[in-house]
Amino acid sequence: MPEPTYYLETFGCQMNVLDSQLVEGQLVQRGMRRVDSFRDADIILFNTCSVRQHAEDKVLSRLGQLKTLKRRRPETIVGVIGCMAEREREGVFIKAPHVDLLCGPGELNRLPALIDEVRDRQEQVVALAGSLSRRTEVLQRALEYDSLEALDLSRAPVAGESELQSYIRVQRGCDKFCTYCVVPFTRGPERSRPAEHIVQEARLLAQRGCREVTLLGQTVNSYLSQEDGRPVCFAQLLERVHAVDGIDRVRFVTSFPADWDDDIFRVMRDCPKICTYLHIPAQSGSDRILKAMRRTYSTADYLRLMDTARRFVPDVSLAGDFIVGFCGETDADFAATIDLVRRVRYQNVFVFKYSPRPGTAADRNLDDDVPADVKLQRNHELLAVQHEVGLAQKQSLVGQTVEVLVEGYSKLARRLQESEQDRGTEVTQRPSRQLVGRTPGDQITVFNGDESLIGALARVRITSASALTLFGEVHALVSPRRTPPPPPPAGLTPLRVLGAEPSGAR
Ligand code: SAH
Ligand code: SF4
Ligand code: F3S
Repeated sequence: MPEPTYYLETFGCQMNVLDSQLVEGQLVQRGMRRVDSFRDADIILFNTCSVRQHAEDKVLSRLGQLKTLKRRRPETIVGVIGCMAEREREGVFIKAPHVDLLCGPGELNRLPALIDEVRDRQEQVVALAGSLSRRTEVLQRALEYDSLEALDLSRAPVAGESELQSYIRVQRGCDKFCTYCVVPFTRGPERSRPAEHIVQEARLLAQRGCREVTLLGQTVNSYLSQEDGRPVCFAQLLERVHAVDGIDRVRFVTSFPADWDDDIFRVMRDCPKICTYLHIPAQSGSDRILKAMRRTYSTADYLRLMDTARRFVPDVSLAGDFIVGFCGETDADFAATIDLVRRVRYQNVFVFKYSPRPGTAADRNLDDDVPADVKLQRNHELLAVQHEVGLAQKQSLVGQTVEVLVEGYSKLARRLQESEQDRGTEVTQRPSRQLVGRTPGDQITVFNGDESLIGALARVRITSASALTLFGEVHALVSPRRTPPPPPPAGLTPLRVLGAEPSGAR
């Protein structure tokens, strides 16, 4: 029998990208093969996001496209996994009755078993937080958590996954309950992973040739674990990952502005591999709105924190998120947000139109009273202001030399290569060898260079800049690409997780 095939499409944040890699690892270990079109797949999975209505609408529309296929080939298994499965629960079956399987982000270790169950029982199956019977749940929760840990630790290599850069989860869930946000409902309570596991993962990835890790958490700076009865805080975790041989860069996202510990800045200043980049969403520049969002800091607190960041690390690159059109946001509130963006001088910001999420405090207690066209207008306006701010920030780097990790060909070069392949042009005659890399401050940098530079750390002299991109010339090679060594001998990688099977699949 040919190996079963799967198609997996991922929506949402970096946490979902990581979850998808771990899911793929499990499926590949079970002898399944990825295909690039859902039409060729025995199993179709959508790893979904619920953060805004738009994200859910996209998934529903993709599911709609599967109706005919499922009618023609009823044996195809369609699964909705991730945050939307957790939020909508069995409601997904009402909107899309041809879905066979629901699996929340906290149950992904059970996915292979669920697929088998659908196949054997020929009925819809569900694995969501609290979907086990009460008694079984109490008995199984602790074990489940260890199995989830095993899933993170397994890191089975997946074809197409970047060898150079990887995500590592440091926290699950979130306890902040910002009034607009669905994440605490979909990802559950905040739990920090053991520091030892995180370091073990970093070592394993480094052995495979990874040079840059990004530590992921909804509020990474509140990381706190216990080791031999002693607390390990985020600054200490950063130092430990910094010490891993082979890892040249450490990033972390996302930081929460309240409860900040200046030791994090100290580590960023003193440990050269910690990237000088801080993604620290403000969400609004109006104290009234911050309060309604339950963000627990004021604009003044936030600005003070940004000043402290620049005092410790003068070239720190700042990024943030903003929600426009939150309940009750007036023109004056919005003007305060614009003012904040100008004062902070961000490298980059992400702007979102407020989208009420069922079950959240804002949806229950506040009116979504900013009209859609005003939200859109504010969105454009804030992006236009950031365009100016970002351009000034980037232009201040012209003439300087920055270090980049060379990631690959630029988008333009890739497009040219594709059209050359279409025309059958000789590869040696490529008109462009434009490469792209990132600075420690996460600035995208484009320059001409040889293919052999991909995977290397290089110094690039900046010659010009746009609001989103730096352009430059290679100045020097810092350290060449590393070809990944052969896989470590068996016995080195099985990772110790108390109470769980090493495979993580139950
Ligand atoms: N944990 C991170 C962000 C998680 S969600 C943090 O606290 O910063 C990513 C971003 O989506 C948020 O920063 C916020 O700007 C945006 N967002 C979250 N809920 C939203 C909603 N209901 N409507 C619009 N944007 C939202
Ligand atoms: Fe959502 Fe707030 Fe938690 Fe971020 S900190 S995930 S915005 S509840
Ligand atoms: Fe991420 Fe979306 Fe879930 S932002 S945590 S995938 S709701």
